[in-house]
Amino acid sequence: MSHAAPSPLRLSTSRPLSGTVRVPGDKSISHRSLMLSALAVGESRVEGLLEGEDVLATAQAMRAMGASIVRGEDGLWTIHGVGVGGLLQPEAALDMGNSGTSTRLLMGLVASHAVTATFVGDASLSKRPMGRVIDPLSKMGAEFIPSPGGRLPLMVRGLVPAVPIEYRLPVASAQVKSAVLLAGLNAPGITRVIEPVPTRDHSERMLRGFGAELTVEEVGGERIIAITGEAELKPQHIVVPGDPSSAGFPVVAALIVPGSEIVVENVGLNPTRAGLYEVLRAMGGDIVLENERTVGGEPVADLRVKASSLQGIEPDPSIVPSMVDEFPILFVACALAHGRSTLRGLEELRVKESDRITVMAEGLRAIGATVEEVEDGLIIDGTGGETLAGGATVATHLDHRIAMSFAVASLACRQPVTVDDRAPIATSFPIFVPMMESLGAESHGAVVA
Ligand code: S3P
Repeated sequence: MSHAAPSPLRLSTSRPLSGTVRVPGDKSISHRSLMLSALAVGESRVEGLLEGEDVLATAQAMRAMGASIVRGEDGLWTIHGVGVGGLLQPEAALDMGNSGTSTRLLMGLVASHAVTATFVGDASLSKRPMGRVIDPLSKMGAEFIPSPGGRLPLMVRGLVPAVPIEYRLPVASAQVKSAVLLAGLNAPGITRVIEPVPTRDHSERMLRGFGAELTVEEVGGERIIAITGEAELKPQHIVVPGDPSSAGFPVVAALIVPGSEIVVENVGLNPTRAGLYEVLRAMGGDIVLENERTVGGEPVADLRVKASSLQGIEPDPSIVPSMVDEFPILFVACALAHGRSTLRGLEELRVKESDRITVMAEGLRAIGATVEEVEDGLIIDGTGGETLAGGATVATHLDHRIAMSFAVASLACRQPVTVDDRAPIATSFPIFVPMMESLGAESHGAVVA
C-alpha cells in the first residue's frame, strides 16, 4: 500500500465506447462480509469479494485478531470466525492503509472487546477525523488515545462489558452508525442508533442475515435501529453484488463520449446507494435497467447506457447520502452538460479521502471547466456537450475517486488529462484501467519528453 513512485495515467479515446463489462464487488458490503464472518462461529464463504487494497486491509486486521481468512483459487473466500466476544489481541499495529471504512468500523468492534489496538494509516487517512466515532464509543466505555485533532495513529482500549447506548447521529454517516452497531454486538442489552437522515443500510441487512436481533423503526421521519447485544452470529454464504460507486465511472464515460453504448453488468442498486443513477437520468442520461434481480439480498441490475445530451441539475440535498461517494464523477458529467448545475449540501465531501470539493474544483478548472466553489459544494456551468480543453496534470491527493473521475473526464477533452498517480485506484477498483481499455479507451503512462 505504499505510493512511493507516482505512476501517471492518461486515458483517451478516438472512437465511441462499446462493450459489456462487469464491475467488481461492492466495497461497503465486502468490508462488512469479512467482519461479520470473522465474528460468526464456524465457516462462512464470500463470493464476489472486492479484492481492492481497502478490503484487504480489513482482511488483514481480522486475521490479526484471530480469524482465519483464506482466498481459494476460484476466488471464493473462506472465513473461520472467532465468535462475538472472541477477538484476540493483535500483536502489531493495524495498518488501515487508505481505508476510512475499515478504520471506523473496526474501532467499533474493538471498543467492546478485551482488545487494545493501535490503528495507523497512510497520509490521506491520517488527516481524516475520527472524533465522530470516538464520541459514541467513549460513551460505551472504550478509551482512546488519538493523535492531535482526533486523528490516526490512534490507540483504542475496548471495555468488556461495554455499555449499551442510545445515540443520535450528528452527521449522516453510515460508518458512524455501523461502528456503534458493531460495538453493540458485544454489549449486554440494547444499543440504539437514531438516524435523522437515512444512510446506506448494508450493516443492518447483513447483521440480520447473520442472525443478530436487529429492528428498524421509522418514527417521525427518523430511523431507529436497535441491536440486541451479546449476539451469536451464524456463518453465512454471501454473494457480494457489483459496486454502484465503481459503476459510476464507466457509466458517465459512456454518457459523455458521443456515440457510445455500453452495458455495465451486476450493479447493486440498493436505494440507499443508487442516487447517482436517479440524478443522471433526471439530467437526460439514457440509462436503462435490464435483468433486474436480487443478489445476496440486494437489488441488482445490468445498466445499458447510451451517450446522451445532459442538462444541468440542482439535486435536492436530501439525495446526498445515497450518492455521497459519486459527486466527483457527477461533477464531470455536469461540466459537460447544458447549463448550470448547483450542487450543494456536500460539506461531508471535504473529509473524504481528500477534500473533494476543492480538489475537484481545482482539477476541473485546470482542464477548462467553469466552476465556482462554495462552502458546501460546487456551481458548474457546463460546456453544452462541447469537449473541454484538457491537457493539464491533475493532483489526486491519494484519492481513488479523484483519479478515476479525471481519467474519465479525459475522454471528453481535446488533449488528454494527466492523472498524476494511478496507484490509489487499486484501493477500490483494481481493474479500472483494463476495464476502460476493454470499452475502447487507450491508456498511456508518463508523458515522454
Ligand atoms: C461507507 C460510508 C460512507 C462512504 C464510504 C463507505 C460505508 O462514509 O463515503 O466510502 O461503507 O459505511 P461516511 O460514513 O463517512 O459517509
